[in-house]
Amino acid sequence: MKFFVDTADTAEIADLAATGLLDGVTTNPSLIAKSGLNFLEVTKEICALVEGPVSAEVVALDHETMMKEAEILRKIADNVAIKVPLTIDGLKTCKKLSDDGTLVNVTLCFSANQALLAAKAGASFISPFVGRHDDNGFDGMALIEDIRLIYDNYAFETEILVASVRHPIHVLESARIGADVATMPPAVIRNLFKHVLTDKGIEGFMADWAKTGQSIG
Ligand code: E4P
Repeated sequence: MKFFVDTADTAEIADLAATGLLDGVTTNPSLIAKSGLNFLEVTKEICALVEGPVSAEVVALDHETMMKEAEILRKIADNVAIKVPLTIDGLKTCKKLSDDGTLVNVTLCFSANQALLAAKAGASFISPFVGRHDDNGFDGMALIEDIRLIYDNYAFETEILVASVRHPIHVLESARIGADVATMPPAVIRNLFKHVLTDKGIEGFMADWAKTGQSIG
């Protein structure tokens, strides 16, 4: 499963990219607002930090303006994925851009039928929001299972990009189901590395090693 980070914080992205485990980045208008940075400038900066896809979201609601915005965004770098909302205009835009060979991430997906539409529109990625689904009393991971089943039934190549991830259990479940990508806030990625027994084990080994009085090299 690929790991994307869901942030526009370039220091975090650079730090996580240095692990060699980061496969891409997702942003959205709220994350850009939170960063306080210029959208086009920060997107360019992020695209230089990672080799994988960097999702940049259009903000227009109509197809024509979405296409104009996408034209500007896709010129930023080869690894830009244009993010469009799951609406009729968004999917029209998705179809047109995908036919041109542009990476497209269809966002704000909350049903398996919506995911089916996005795949038919040629989306490179579908982003079902599991955390927001759970927040509203639905089962986010059941949605991922349904989408996996449907995409496998018809051999769709659209990648399931699990979004709105809140905690490591969402990541574990995504991997069990066979999702293609999970996009996570930096804190969730960092939490994946942690285990109390790893910390305790290191502490014990360090204490015993000190007793030997030796050093390596
Ligand atoms: C994904 O592309 C979205 O940017 C993101 O995962 C939304 O997460 P949120 O529900 O925590 O805002």
